[in-house]
Amino acid sequence: MAEYNDEIVHECDGIQEQDNKLPQWWVMLFKVTIVFAVIYLLWFHVLGFGKLSAEKYEDEVSRAEAAQAARQAAALANMDLTMPSLEAAVLSEGSELYSTYCASCHHSTGRGLIGPNLTDNAWIHGAEFADSMYVIENGVLEKGMQAWKSMLSLRQRHAVASYIYSLRGSNPPEPRRAPQGEVVPGSDSPTFQL
Ligand code: HEC
Repeated sequence: MAEYNDEIVHECDGIQEQDNKLPQWWVMLFKVTIVFAVIYLLWFHVLGFGKLSAEKYEDEVSRAEAAQAARQAAALANMDLTMPSLEAAVLSEGSELYSTYCASCHHSTGRGLIGPNLTDNAWIHGAEFADSMYVIENGVLEKGMQAWKSMLSLRQRHAVASYIYSLRGSNPPEPRRAPQGEVVPGSDSPTFQL
């Protein structure tokens, strides 16, 4: 222990100052903080071994994004293919397939060209989602609608069927192909049978 000396070395306005050594424990603590600061500086800022908050944040965000993508993939993998899906990923895949394989006959808007209008409430082969799936799978060969089962996988047929489902009731600009088949009230809505 440092010696305690109560000699007053300075006094001003009644405030007295003594000149004693600081306690050893206090000095040690002070030195430790200096050593710590040097190591900290080297570790985080010079050598870059430690991650700063911004990097940790980036890490967490990319981990969360990967987890989100995995969840979405799992949700798509477990999707019920007997029902139309309005998932953005499904519709964008369906939209691409539609412009590649279907738009030439059903028009890019679905309003019909060689093939019937897919946006109205009249259906030759049935208004339900399962009916569209069936026609897309097996086609109507004698009318020029080919069977897509060898060209498109079940998942792709589901995506394109979901896409045309989403076009229902979209009222594309004229000239629309006149309604063909049986009118099924309410079937010109993307929420029909959902
Ligand atoms: C070569 C022209 C052609 C192509 C390409 C074509 N279709 Fe068709 N599609 C037709 C014709 C013609 C019909 C009407 C069949 C009938 O009269 O029975 C039809 C009927 C349909 C129907 C049933 C409509 C109803 O009223 O019941 C659906 C659904 C359909 N097509 C979806 C598709 C999809 C999806 C694709 C792309 C994968 C596609 N078609 C590609 C010509 C085509």
